[in-house]
Amino acid sequence: NLDLFGQELDPSQDPSRPPWERIHALIPKDSPLHGMTTLEAVRDYVNDTVLVPIDEARLNAVMGVGDPNADLVIIGEAPGADEDRTGEPFTGRAGQLLNKILAAIHFERQDVYITNILFWRPPGNRNPTAGEVAACLPFIERLIELVDPAVLVMVGGTAAKTLLGQSDGIMKLRGRWFNYESARMTRPIPATGIFHPAYLLRSPAQKRTAWTDLLAIKRKLEASPE
Ligand code: URA
Repeated sequence: NLDLFGQELDPSQDPSRPPWERIHALIPKDSPLHGMTTLEAVRDYVNDTVLVPIDEARLNAVMGVGDPNADLVIIGEAPGADEDRTGEPFTGRAGQLLNKILAAIHFERQDVYITNILFWRPPGNRNPTAGEVAACLPFIERLIELVDPAVLVMVGGTAAKTLLGQSDGIMKLRGRWFNYESARMTRPIPATGIFHPAYLLRSPAQKRTAWTDLLAIKRKLEASPE
């Protein structure tokens, strides 16, 4: 594809390409990522590497937790102060609500795999920048490929828009199903977005809608062939 000036478009910025192709175009051919065949290898690399010059005051890289063979992968936004301290995603107030949300559809936290689209706490909990998200995305893509879940759930608008390659916010993305694909996967994974638990803490009236979305996720898991 060519841009307005007849130049070849950077494939990572080409809106006509599906999101997984754009993510893939961000990975240099000689990236060590291509050789990472375990979650531990990805974790060790991310722990030891400065991928983005985010706040130097951060304490920990916050990677995924849970079952490496989970049927359900949950992707949140970014660690907060609690997660920065513990090195584990969703351990603060929003995390406690996420645990209850999971329990409502009969999942313990350790039965699923939970991560964020950003591995570090943005200073002052500001929104992640496009550059920070782009730096982490190839690793998120790899984590999803390695866990290879039956269903993928994005928590909140930032994660949903990014991984589904959509411009709509979570109000329009929730309750709908998309196919998440990646260059190395042989089949698409059914993917959806749900309200972020931090939003539900502020807007408890939305819990009813969240419940509808959870039941749909449960049904999707039950219908999955695995
Ligand atoms: N919010 C997120 O999106 N992720 C966390 O890990 C904690 C809070």
